[in-house]
Amino acid sequence: MTDDRGGTPGSQAQERIVPMRLQKFLARAGVASRRGSEDLMTAGRVTVNGEVVTELGAKVDPLVDVVAVDGATVSLASGPVYFALNKPTGVMTTMSDPQGRPTVASLMPPGYPGLFPVGRLDFDTEGLLLLTTDGDLAQKLLHPRHHVPKTYYVEVDGVPTEEDLSRLREGVELDDGKTAPAEARLLKRQGRGAAIELTIREGRKRQVKRMASAVRHPVMFLRRTKFGNVELGDLRPGEVRELTSEEVEGLRAGA
Ligand code: URA
Repeated sequence: MTDDRGGTPGSQAQERIVPMRLQKFLARAGVASRRGSEDLMTAGRVTVNGEVVTELGAKVDPLVDVVAVDGATVSLASGPVYFALNKPTGVMTTMSDPQGRPTVASLMPPGYPGLFPVGRLDFDTEGLLLLTTDGDLAQKLLHPRHHVPKTYYVEVDGVPTEEDLSRLREGVELDDGKTAPAEARLLKRQGRGAAIELTIREGRKRQVKRMASAVRHPVMFLRRTKFGNVELGDLRPGEVRELTSEEVEGLRAGA
């Protein structure tokens, strides 16, 4: 086969098994952007079945051909992919923004069409954001019925009393109804404020900020540290890692 038919949007399995341009293959495998992959090819760093290929029109069959960059074999992910990103503040939780603001897409490795964020964090919120090409799992994780716990490190103005924390735990009245039971604990006092840890099992818009404001301790800084069984750990803002298979299994079991 010599043509370059892609699958219909969303049919990645189909797209993956037809011959495709070498630069597209390299980009999808996460080696570099399409343009960067062309540069690798013209520099003579890419081989197909052991032969250097510099011609930009060359096609490969991902199921048959062995592609290597600098001697290292490159392959396409064979199934859905799962990433954890530490979303920095000042970045939109979308894959594109009509107003040209920075988005999480620019922080992700290239070559994964169909990748999208699982839920969202506010523009000014930092922390753990999962991104995947697995629409089924994402839908389950976001469904209110599944009550997936999400934990936040929250810096607030003023020091919440034990009574404030109890109210957060039992549920506070917001304009879209009372919040479900949550976990809340004081971590430390700092300056004229405090840091608390809050775990919620809902996913309403700006929920943590609204809950904190409801007990008169507005949020000054917010970071998500855990989503289901997945922890942010020491991932720094802007850093990405793939989830382990245990983490993916844990998410499936909890969803
Ligand atoms: N709650 C908020 O208020 N903001 C977020 O980004 C996430 C949870």
